[in-house]
Amino acid sequence: MITQPLSSADTAALQNLVADCRRAGGLHAYPQPDDVPSVLAHPAVTANGLAWWDDEDMVAWALAQPDFGNVLFDVAPICRGRPFEDEVLGFTLHRLVAAGVTTADTPVEGDDTWRQDVLTRRGFEDSGDSVVHLVSTSPGEHPAALAPPGLRVQELGDRVQDYVDAHRAAFGTQYLTPEVRLAWQAEPGYHPALDLVLVDDSDRVHAFAVSYLHAHTGEIGTVGVIPDQKGRGLSTVVVAAAMDRLVAAGATGVTMSTSSTNAPMLATARRMGFTEVRRTTWWQRGSI
Ligand SMILES: CC(C)(COP(=O)(O)OP(=O)(O)OC[C@H]1O[C@@H](n2cnc3c(N)ncnc32)[C@H](O)[C@@H]1OP(=O)(O)O)[C@@H](O)C(=O)NCCC(=O)NCCS
Repeated sequence: MITQPLSSADTAALQNLVADCRRAGGLHAYPQPDDVPSVLAHPAVTANGLAWWDDEDMVAWALAQPDFGNVLFDVAPICRGRPFEDEVLGFTLHRLVAAGVTTADTPVEGDDTWRQDVLTRRGFEDSGDSVVHLVSTSPGEHPAALAPPGLRVQELGDRVQDYVDAHRAAFGTQYLTPEVRLAWQAEPGYHPALDLVLVDDSDRVHAFAVSYLHAHTGEIGTVGVIPDQKGRGLSTVVVAAAMDRLVAAGATGVTMSTSSTNAPMLATARRMGFTEVRRTTWWQRGSI
């Protein structure tokens, strides 16, 4: 077995590996094969990610995401067991430590008992925070949410830097770059007509919603409102517009996910007719 830093050239191999792993448990675990291009598009993926190869097959991968304090990893079902699993997970912890991060978080599905066992052995436990997955089964029937006077919804078009600025402001983070944002546009299900911003008369971006369409299922991926516009319900305006566009494009259902601690986003989703279908738990290890 050999190890190599991860890169975007590994897309097909990693998609095969995660598909194999999801069939064995944690069916909905992140990443899904469709998520792999955006995971590998991050500029730091080569520095913080490693793949284990057996001939032509990728049999394990591990990625530390110091920006978020997160770790992701999988081991092919055929290669599971100690000490290999500990080596794979251990790689991510070393990378977080090297980046000055002291707490590691990782998402865990309720049906992923393999991952729960590996993590428990390495000192992780359920943090109590989770990702709430919601669905709207009648997306054409959401309550009206019109743009306030002076604001209008439009497609982002080529204003990638404006999006990056608004996203950084809304989330209070710095990790998003124009390169990573452009990579979203290569993701399956991306369509420019579903990449929406709410702008004022001088074209300033106040809010955004980026959605995807997979067959007949829409996905509202990222929603945000810039800080000085929060509290006006502008997220309902962009979510309603996204749902209308998704329905027009053929969606019969729409999904979205957000943190269990994100009260405004959960309130907006429920107001727009979404109901909870499952949760992904964040497991955490402090003092890595
Ligand atoms: C989440 C976000 C988009 C919501 O923006 P917004 O539209 O300005 O949200 P508002 O403050 O108007 O609140 C929306 C709803 O949540 C409710 N709400 C707000 N804070 C709340 C709290 N602490 N507890 C309970 N409900 C709350 C509001 O009352 C409102 O409900 P209503 O429509 O029934 O009146 C915005 O806070 C944001 O950009 N956050 C950072 C990015 C993010 O987390 N995006 C979502 C994950 S993809």
